[in-house]
Amino acid sequence: MQIDLSFGVIGWGYWGPKIARNLDSLPQAKVTMVADLDARRLAPLSMKHSGIQTTTQIEDVFRSEVDGVVIATPVRTHYQLAKQALLQGKHVLVEKPLTANVAEAEELVALAQEQRRILMVGHTFEYSPAVNELRKLIQRGELGKIYSIEAERLNLGLFRNDINVIWDLAPHDVSILLYLLGKRPVQVEVQAHAHLQRHIHDIAHLNLGFTDGMTAHIHVSWLHPCKIRRVTVIGDARMAVYDDTNPAEMLKIYNKGADVHADPGVSYRFGEVTIPYIDWIEPLHLECEDFATAIRTSLVHCTYRGDAAKSDLEPLHLSATARCASRGPNKGTLSTSAHNW
Ligand SMILES: NC(=O)c1ccc[n+]([C@@H]2O[C@H](COP(=O)([O-])OP(=O)(O)OC[C@H]3O[C@@H](n4cnc5c(N)ncnc54)[C@H](O)[C@@H]3O)[C@@H](O)[C@H]2O)c1
Repeated sequence: MQIDLSFGVIGWGYWGPKIARNLDSLPQAKVTMVADLDARRLAPLSMKHSGIQTTTQIEDVFRSEVDGVVIATPVRTHYQLAKQALLQGKHVLVEKPLTANVAEAEELVALAQEQRRILMVGHTFEYSPAVNELRKLIQRGELGKIYSIEAERLNLGLFRNDINVIWDLAPHDVSILLYLLGKRPVQVEVQAHAHLQRHIHDIAHLNLGFTDGMTAHIHVSWLHPCKIRRVTVIGDARMAVYDDTNPAEMLKIYNKGADVHADPGVSYRFGEVTIPYIDWIEPLHLECEDFATAIRTSLVHCTYRGDAAKSDLEPLHLSATARCASRGPNKGTLSTSAHNW
């Protein structure tokens, strides 16, 4: 098979191998290099795939012939690695969150534009067929006026020690919210708690306000007995629940509601529950395909799907605000007053 795109993957921990598997499954594409500072991580790969060059010298990837570089390392390293890759003329896919602060993210976006290279962020859930189905329902007005959205991303772990739970998990939910709604919040309030590690908050609640009165609430936690990955959308015509942990019924639409002005008293509507058929494709596969297509068609934009570069940064602006807000005295319970844009 003729190969026209080659990739280097930096970071061979939990997520790097999953990205490599998906890149390798794309037609005429191949992962040719893998780099990690830890040689022990690379050892099994070197034995299994002799065709892949492995290295602990990360610069080898930048100096190589690969067209695209994927960065799946701890967040604190993203900025430096992405900057070096762009400066060496590589197209770059960085795992979420793009960087550890907004200033670094803006610098990378400007650099990518200057170098005329793709810079993409791995907001994987925007590629989920269930999220896209929910987005269509909202855009077609089938849920009516949206009052509120609740997003929950809870589990026991994985504990990180370089970032807090907001910076680790909330970028997923912020990106889903902005993608579903196509509008940005004007206000954010955060409450974060550090229970197990000093300085690092493991439970957090974010409240987001929008100009039209819509609200959104994000609950993220590394300290919860159940694995929950759920987004609930409350509309005045229908309500919908996207449950990422339930493959058979990932999206449910409830014909439920209430009318408080009914005569006499309040009238409740308990209608049918619909479970739309979802043609499932692994979101990470679609994300990798999008990266490859962007490189092949030389779409020089800094986002996925042609959005303006700035809107790509909005999840980061929000997460960054939350992160600053949760610094405080570095332990115990923290809360912030509303931050307005
Ligand atoms: N999109 C998603 O759904 C998703 C899921 C999981 C993780 N992620 C993201 O992927 C990234 C990696 O997460 P992970 O869970 O795989 O972490 P991990 O700790 O399992 O793996 C990170 C790897 O990077 C290596 N490393 C550290 N510093 C390095 C450097 N400077 N150069 C090269 N290698 C270095 C480590 O040795 C380790 O092997 C994070 O940004 C995380 O947020 C995204």
